Amino acid sequence: MKRMRRLRNPGIREMVAETDLNLGDLIQPIFVDERISGPRGIVAMPGQFRQSLESLATEAAVLEDLGVPAVLLFGLPAQKDEMGSGAYDSNGVIQKAVRTVKEATDLVVITDLCLCEYTNHGHCGLIRGEVVLNDETLPLLGEVAVSHAEAGADVVAPSGMMDHMVQAIRAALDVDGYTDTPILSYAAKYASTFYGPFREAAESGFAFGDRKGYQMNPANSAEALWEVQLDIEEGADMVMIKPALPYLDILRAVKDMFGMPTAAYQVSGEYSMIMAAAEQGWLDERAAFLEALMCIKRAGADMIVTYWAKEYAKLYEK
Ligand code: PBG
Repeated sequence: MKRMRRLRNPGIREMVAETDLNLGDLIQPIFVDERISGPRGIVAMPGQFRQSLESLATEAAVLEDLGVPAVLLFGLPAQKDEMGSGAYDSNGVIQKAVRTVKEATDLVVITDLCLCEYTNHGHCGLIRGEVVLNDETLPLLGEVAVSHAEAGADVVAPSGMMDHMVQAIRAALDVDGYTDTPILSYAAKYASTFYGPFREAAESGFAFGDRKGYQMNPANSAEALWEVQLDIEEGADMVMIKPALPYLDILRAVKDMFGMPTAAYQVSGEYSMIMAAAEQGWLDERAAFLEALMCIKRAGADMIVTYWAKEYAKLYEK
């Protein structure tokens, strides 16, 4: 008689595990704020900090020493304007941040490529009235990509959910000679309330409306396959599903259908929910993150963007 419990004893349980979670799969997001002079805590994300351009070098070195392989950089500029011009300024906060991390470490530097942290209205594209313009935004995204690559970014990660953004970015990179810079596209990005704490972290709340006109409806899954397929056709080298835990079915479907290098983003709200419950003593922080991350991996993620990457690395510190 088959008895499933035979393999659930310590030692054997681990040997027959189908999924491995590795530090090498994790990407740590970092917020870099050019207006501050040292690390500043993010209230809605306990344990997370905005870094200044100075403290960024130290933080990056710590992450590298801990064995974290990659960082995803977000910039908070001193000035915002209608055109999001800080996003493609060669001396902008993100460009400086990239140079800082590349000088201080050998970490893989991925840049979030979007206008929303740089526009005074907070939307991911140019606007006319209250309409977020698609095609008018594309050339700017191309410029942002080139400025990131010029600064030394290893990977650019467009997150704005504009149609044809990948094609525009690929073309702009190629024309300027950055043919070897890969694109990690936030291909299936949902209009999610779980981005809430990020709005404080990156000060990217919006002046009007919401992002439902460009980010996906949580009700849809076939649409995610279209989004991913189009991004692959346009030249995406890696694709991302975001958020992670409420969207594991999407992650699995995308991995099965396309077999692409696939990332999942455990977003700010997923992080803060666990942290808040842990602070109350209702959940064990470490066990909750290990389980959530393992499940994201099991569902098909090759890489996971997680605010908990540094803490994960500390568990294995020598
Ligand atoms: C920018 C961007 C957002 C996130 C990553 N890139 C915010 C948004 O789309 O509203 C969210 C990340 C998180 O919540 O951790 N477009």
